[in-house]
Amino acid sequence: MRTALIQGASRGLGLALASAVLAGDPLARVVATSRFPARSKGLSQLAELHGDRLQRLAMDVTDEAGIAAAAQRLAESTSRLHLVINVAGVLHDGTGLAPEKKLADVDPVHLRRAFDVNAVGPLLVAKHFLPFLRHDERSVLANVSARVGSVGDNRAGGWYGYRASKAAQNMFTRNLSIELARRAPNAIVVALHPGTVDTELSRPFQRSVAQERLFAPARAARQLLEVLEGLRRGDSGSFLAWDGSPVPW
Ligand SMILES: NC(=O)c1ccc[n+]([C@@H]2O[C@H](COP(=O)([O-])OP(=O)(O)OC[C@H]3O[C@@H](n4cnc5c(N)ncnc54)[C@H](OP(=O)(O)O)[C@@H]3O)[C@@H](O)[C@H]2O)c1
Repeated sequence: MRTALIQGASRGLGLALASAVLAGDPLARVVATSRFPARSKGLSQLAELHGDRLQRLAMDVTDEAGIAAAAQRLAESTSRLHLVINVAGVLHDGTGLAPEKKLADVDPVHLRRAFDVNAVGPLLVAKHFLPFLRHDERSVLANVSARVGSVGDNRAGGWYGYRASKAAQNMFTRNLSIELARRAPNAIVVALHPGTVDTELSRPFQRSVAQERLFAPARAARQLLEVLEGLRRGDSGSFLAWDGSPVPW
């Protein structure tokens, strides 16, 4: 039986990924983590549909003790994961954190928040869940990044905190791919760009996006899972878009 952990599954792309994994394989189990699992209507609906194939775990990626506790709880029911996707991310949060249009908008508190959620969080999840990926079957650790986190592709500027936090996440992903080649040789580690997905995160910025380039979460999830399915060991350490094409670091 294949077990996937989807980190950041309360809504948006993470919820769609949890749903797609469960729908796509009747033997799959999903561990869906979120800050407040009981508050997620989407996760409650998934639980009703799939029963104990879905396990909900509380985890805030800015709280390392909580991440360690979640890993300990998971160890009570399984010792191996075949797929870990770090999905949680923040671009704006209604408390003043918002993409900066210009240097004058840069605020160190908001910068740190973006780094904590988008970069440090996924790395800490990898730190505490690595033991679940160290087994003799193929496994994948995927960090959901964003094309705007590409240094090589940055032509428009702005969005200092989001861009730089995703760039930092990308470096962590690449580093992990190198370390895990030794410590978990069956694990493939990649960064993913999901395209523009119709979620709360992108909603204020969708006006300039062509309709056919704005993916419903379910479609985005299917596309990413297809990319992950096709990965080979040699792909570890790459940054891939929703259609499998490479994104420059
Ligand atoms: N949407 C796009 O167009 C797009 C494009 C490129 C990349 N991405 C990336 O795709 C990922 C998913 O984004 P989305 O569009 O699905 O966004 P979303 O709908 O805003 O969902 C964000 C998710 O992150 C979780 N989260 C935020 N802070 C957290 C924390 N401290 N600990 C744990 N979970 C936390 C949220 O949980 P709560 O419900 O608890 O707040 C929610 O599940 C992000 O990494 C984003 O950067 C999205």
